[in-house]
This record gives sequence, structure tokens and C-alpha cells, in this order.
Amino acid sequence: AGYQSKVLAAGGSPFPFTVRGLEEAAREALPRRAFEYIAGGAGRERTLAANEEAFARWGLTYKILRDGRPADPSCTVLGTAMSFPVMLAPAGVAGLAHPEAENAAARAAARVGAVQVLSSATSTPLEEVAEAAPEGRRWFQFAWPDDEKLARSLLDRAHKAGYTAVVLQGDCHVAGWRTRELDNGFFPFGRGHGLGNYLSDPRFRELAGLPGHPLGALRPDAAGTRAAADAWNRYYTRPALAPEDLERLRSWTDLPIAVKGVCRADEAARLRDGGADALIVSNHGGRQLDAGTAALDCLPDVAEAAAGLPVLFDSGVRTGTDVLIALALGARAVMIGRSWLYGLAIGGEAGVEHVLRCLQGEFTGALALTGHHRPGDLSPADLTAVPAIP
Ligand code: FNR
Repeated sequence: AGYQSKVLAAGGSPFPFTVRGLEEAAREALPRRAFEYIAGGAGRERTLAANEEAFARWGLTYKILRDGRPADPSCTVLGTAMSFPVMLAPAGVAGLAHPEAENAAARAAARVGAVQVLSSATSTPLEEVAEAAPEGRRWFQFAWPDDEKLARSLLDRAHKAGYTAVVLQGDCHVAGWRTRELDNGFFPFGRGHGLGNYLSDPRFRELAGLPGHPLGALRPDAAGTRAAADAWNRYYTRPALAPEDLERLRSWTDLPIAVKGVCRADEAARLRDGGADALIVSNHGGRQLDAGTAALDCLPDVAEAAAGLPVLFDSGVRTGTDVLIALALGARAVMIGRSWLYGLAIGGEAGVEHVLRCLQGEFTGALALTGHHRPGDLSPADLTAVPAIP
């Protein structure tokens, strides 16, 4: 509500307020292949479409009898306090959207009090992102490398740099069939983008046969870039993942572990039993498997199977009311992917802050209109199943 009054008092904002407006502005701001890398999904993009459409099948019911306390959107997940239940999802190669990349996002998140979940595949080394916003709250998304020394090195670095939780990526052991990437002949990692955490890692440089950093350049020459891209393809992530692996991960880090990419109730139960501290329902924003199952449709069953373990959600969240729907269906907080990258593309730090403030304003107002005080008060009673709006 604060942001709304501020914008209206100022006579407007340089940034759009609608979801489509943001997307169109980002399309105009970026080279085609960069925009399509961010916007695109796998295959025919049915999962991508379904993720958004699923929210239109739920209506929120509002309540007018109330005690008059203002809504307080703050919450705490895995020991991390946040000003409202929206985090920046891990997204690699933010440098495609803006030269200040993850650093700009870190500063924006810190100003709003939102958590930044930093991708393994960043443009900028994780230490530098932490230094860009020392007061910020951050988690580290961990793609489990197929090399134990590299795995432990990344985890140790994240811990030392002040990341307070590990988000284990579960769904990226093979590349999604991304048709727009194929149309454009553009895979950023093959061109040396997204290797910030790897090129700054002594173990990775050893595996790639690059001279040891800091003596060697962080951005190698063409031959070095090829060697790094090859090594990244080889070691980025191990093929197997079993619930028992969580025990090994736990022996390498003291941080709480959230597993990302959970869509099935049976797996939720196994991961809970295996020792996960939180589960993240996500289908990678429809970028991996194009089967048309919306992530939101997986949320209630996973939340039930999680049996009290915190459940987070992403894939398709676009508005503050989407956040309410996901919370009413069992999520403790949500993450946004493309939206923050669009904000970054159109306005750097200010653009990401704008996107977060819009979600915060809309969420907080809608929380009050549903008659609630805190995010945790939302429940299925606030929802009505409605026919999809065409
Ligand atoms: C992603 N996502 C992602 N996830 C992850 O665990 N590690 C990563 O490096 C990336 N990289 C990435 C790049 C880009 C350009 C996008 C759009 C997404 C997935 C991301 O964390 C999240 O699951 C989805 O983006 C959520 O869906 P929405 O909000 O984009 O619909």
C-alpha cells in the first residue's frame, strides 16, 4: 500500500505495473536471444502456459468482518526473516538481462527485505554478490557437482559468504528441450556465461585445466572459455539423486537444506524422511519437462505429504494475489523467476525493486481484503474453485 501511494503521489512510475507490460518492456530492452532465453520454456511451452493458467482456476473469497489491525506480511522460513513471503528464485546468467546482474538484484532484495536465492550458474561469483549487499538475506542454490571437492568447495564458499540455507536443485540433471534456444542457436553456458562461481573456484579451474585464479583471468580467452564450458557440462551436476544423499550433503554443511523441484507426493514423503528441511514445489518455470502439469496443481498433495515440513512454491507466480493462492494451498512462501529478470532488464536494481514492491503492495492489500492479519492465516477456506477465465 505504501508503494501504491508513493507512485500515485509522484504521478506515476517509469516502470509498468501489469505482468504483460513488464514482459513487453523487457522484450524491447533486450536482444532477442537474451529475452527468449529468459521468457522461453521447454517444448511447446504447455507447462509454461499451464503454470500461469492454474492460478485462474482459483478464486479468493474476501471477508469484511475484521478486527482492524493492519495486515503484517512478514514471515520467517528456515530461520530467515523476510518482509513478505516472496523470494527471488535462483536464475542463472542474470548478466544476459543487465550488466550489474546478480549484484543489482542483491541490492534490490536487501532494500525490500526479501531473500535472494542465488543460482549456482551466476554471472557473478557468490562472494561478490554478497559484498554488493552485505546486509541482505541470501540462500544458495546448489547444483550438486559431479566432483566431491568441487561440491564441498562451493558449499564452504557459500557458508563463509553468509548464505543461510542451501537450495538443492533437483531437476536439472539433463537439459530441457528448449525450443526457443534451439531456434536462436543460443545456449549461454556454451559461450562462457553463467560460470561466475566456477571460474572463481580453484577446484573447478583445476578440473578445467585453467591456470589458477587469481593469477589467471576470471574471464578466460576463447580456448579457455571452451575448456571451462566443457568442464562445466561435465561436472555441473551429478546424474543421481537419492533421499540417502541428503545425509552426505548434511555432513558437508551445517546450513538447512531445501530441495527444489518436488512435484510428487511420494517423493515429498521420501525426501522428508531422508532429512530435507524444506521442500520447494517447482517445475523450473516450465523450462524442463513440457508435459502440461501446472506446478500449482502439485502443491496441495506435496504440502500434505510434507507433513509439517515447510513447503515453498514457484513456477507461474505473477501477482500478489497469486502469492495468496499459493499460500492458501499450503506454501509458506513463494519465489519468482522471470518477473525479477524482467525488472532487472528494464531498470537494473530499481527495476527489481519495483517488481518486488508491486508484489509486496498487492499481496499486503489482498491479505487485508481476505480479512487476515498474517500470511500464515491463509487456508483453503479462502479459496473457491472457479471456471478458468479464457
Ligand atoms: C531459471 N531457474 C533456475 N532454477 C535453478 O534452480 N537454477 C538456475 O540456475 C535457474 N536458472 C534459471 C534461469 C532463467 C532465465 C529462468 C527464467 C529460470 C528456474 C527458477 O528458479 C524458477 O524455478 C522459475 O523461474 C519459476 O518460474 P517463473 O516465476 O519464472 O514462472
